[in-house]
This record gives sequence, C-alpha cells and structure tokens, in this order.
Amino acid sequence: MKLASEIVVRPARNVRGSVQLPGDKSISHRYAMLASIAEGPSRIENYSTGADCASTLGCVRTLGVVWERKDGNVIEVAGRGPALAAPTGALDCGNSGSTMRMLSGMVSAQEFASEMIGDESLSRRPMQRVIQPLTQMGARIDSQDGKPPLCIAGGKLKAIDYVMPVASAQVKSCLLFAGLLADGETRVEESVRTRDHGEVALRAFGAKVDRKSKGGGSEVRIRGGQRLRGIEARVPGDLSSAAFFLCAAALFPGSQLTLPSLLMNPTRARLLDVLMQMGLRISVTQLDEVHGELVGSLQVEGAALKGTTLVGADSAALIDEIPVLAAIAPLTEQGIEVRDAKELRVKESDRIAAVAANLRRMGAEVEEREDGLKIPGGQTLHGAEIDSFSDHRIAMAFAVAALRAEGETLIRGAEAAAISYPAFFETLEAVVER
Ligand code: S3P
Repeated sequence: MKLASEIVVRPARNVRGSVQLPGDKSISHRYAMLASIAEGPSRIENYSTGADCASTLGCVRTLGVVWERKDGNVIEVAGRGPALAAPTGALDCGNSGSTMRMLSGMVSAQEFASEMIGDESLSRRPMQRVIQPLTQMGARIDSQDGKPPLCIAGGKLKAIDYVMPVASAQVKSCLLFAGLLADGETRVEESVRTRDHGEVALRAFGAKVDRKSKGGGSEVRIRGGQRLRGIEARVPGDLSSAAFFLCAAALFPGSQLTLPSLLMNPTRARLLDVLMQMGLRISVTQLDEVHGELVGSLQVEGAALKGTTLVGADSAALIDEIPVLAAIAPLTEQGIEVRDAKELRVKESDRIAAVAANLRRMGAEVEEREDGLKIPGGQTLHGAEIDSFSDHRIAMAFAVAALRAEGETLIRGAEAAAISYPAFFETLEAVVER
C-alpha cells in the first residue's frame, strides 16, 4: 500500500468503533527469523504488515530461506535448519533496527561472511551494543565506528556470560539467537526487565530457555546446539500500534473502542496500567495464551484524562509508546513528565527532539531534557504543519494529537507510518466521528 507523503488530519468530536490491529512487529520479526533456522515448515498468520517485518523477510530470502506470502498476511516459511546459505548480496535491513540487531546474532554464527546495510536513519543508529558482546563470542565484525554497514566474517561462536549495559530486548534476542547456535551455555542478564518475545518465541519453536527474575530484571540461559522445529502460529495484534487508538480514545470522554485479539504480554502491557491510572476505562475479555504469548480483547471508554510521570523501568517498558503519550500530554489535566528515556534519542529519529519540535509547532509549551520531556497539561493545541522526521511513530502520534487540535494539521512525511502500520490513517479515519 502506497501512502501519501502529506496527510491532513481534521479535528474530531469522538472516537467509536472496532479496530483489528495488524500482527505485532516484535513477534513477527522473531517468528520469521526462528522459522528460518527451524527444521520443517512454519505457517505464521497475521504477520505484521509493516515494511520493517518485510525487511526481515527480504534478508532471510537473501540467506537462502524459501518463504511465500499468502492471502490474509499468512507467511509460509520452509525452515532450513541452523545452516543458512551464503547471501547472494547485502542484507538490506531498510529502516529496521530490530532486523539488523537480532539477525546479526544469527549470521555471526554462520560459515560465511555477510554484509548488513540500512537506510539513512538506520545507518546513524548504534550497533556497538551487539558488536561488543558478539565479538566476545568470537565474531569478527567491522562497522563504521559502531554504526552500519556491518561486515560480519561468520564462524564458530562460543557461549557468553553477559550483563547487558543497555536495557534492550533486541540485544537480548540477538545474544540468545547467537547462543542457540554457539558452543556451550549462554547467560544474559538484564537489570531492567525488557520485552521477552525472544525467550517466548524460542520456547514456542521447541528450545529450552531458562528464565529467572533477578532484582528488577532477569537472567536468561540457553544451551547451544538445540534444534528448533517449525510451528503454526497466529501473531497477536500489535499493542504498540494499538497505543495510537487507545490514546485517541483517551482524548474524548464518552469514546468507545473495541480492540480484539491484542497482545497482552506483561512486558508490553504497562501502557494499559498507565492509561487506566490516567482515567481511561479498559476492560479485558477473552484472555488466552497462544504459544506462550497472552492475547485478549479490549473494551475501552474515554473519561477525563489525568497526567502522569514516567521514570525508570516504566520509561523502558513504554519506550515505543512515549511519543504518542507525549503528543497528547498538553491535553491532559496535569501534563506528563518523562525521565530516564534517553534511548529515545537513538530511535528511528531523535524522538525527544521530534516530539518537542512538533508540539511547539502546535503552540504547546514543552521542556526538553537530555533524557526526557516535561509537558504541562491544560493546554490547547493548534492545527499546524508538523514533520514526521521520517519516523513512523512520530507521524502517527501527531495524527492522534491533531484530533483534538483547533484547526487542521498537515503531517509531512506521513508515509513513514508504513514502517509499522501501512493502514494506520485509513483505520483512524474509520473510527473518528466529526
Ligand atoms: C524491540 C525493542 C525495543 C523497541 C523496538 C522493538 C524489540 O528496542 O523500541 O521498537 O522487538 O525487541 P530496544 O530493544 O532497543 O529497547
């Protein structure tokens, strides 16, 4: 689907309806990667429609994996087992940090060299966080001062015992995937608990993974040499994409939304607690567990919206949702303060600077800090020309804020939404009342 590069969002009166979210991006990446090195076929339903997950599929095809896309976003993957094929060209990760970081672990353990490249935004993002531990495992990786492109020599890896200095689920998955293909037992420790889809997906594909809570974080162990077997799975709806609709509903007292079959993984669902504390009424029905991932259906009703402060582990748990929470912050009663979120500076854009710049264009007062933002509540937003900074979450966050602005908002670079959610703007329009 080709999205227009400029989209006008008009103010709305209410939000009402039902939204079926595309498959979760984090889970789609991991299922595609693990299905590639599993034995036998996998069938993945409701695979993410975003360009990022297509980048992962493109890379595994370059590594000799045969897959087919069927109607209804079903991907059928013919697993090759642990040995991939020498790539026919560079592995193009596009805009996707997840693809580069997680796949680097798998290709480091292969008998051939790989080159991993990305677009302009990805080429600015830090990769030292995977290069350093993979090098400790025996990988030989050249980079541009810790940034892409990566040239990975490939070869036998040895297990690692690693305490992660940065809270990153991508790094954790990278090391667990590398550990699966390495000699010995790999142990990864994190001081803040990050999303656990890597661990859950490895188990779904038949690997034994041990996990223990440790302080506020966790310790995960995996033994190398285990074989994976293909699975049939349905990817639950993406909770980070649902965040835009939840925040849109939160802006209108009296709004009503239904979100069926949504991912409810506890390492992702902190957003729901925070929005409930802020005043949104949320009830969950039909809670179910599929391949270790919790799935539920949400009923949501808007009411008056209070403010909040996000710090420490909350900022890490909500890292992808902070842009939209910050974009609606001026419209809350007490405002929102975000601290301990300096990772936002090295996402697809500098999301702290992007949010501050766009909110100011809409006439809001914002205090920008190195590791976060302080945004007073009780403000009025004015329709303005805003910039996505080529970042999908910034484009979508400001489409939501624009629903309660005075006057129309023009979003430049709106096509960035296709990175995670190509149907976002039309889906939003379908639930908006004017
Ligand atoms: C992701 C983890 C997060 C998140 C990203 C997806 C994942 O990044 O921001 O969109 O799928 O593991 P970090 O692991 O770098 O925090």
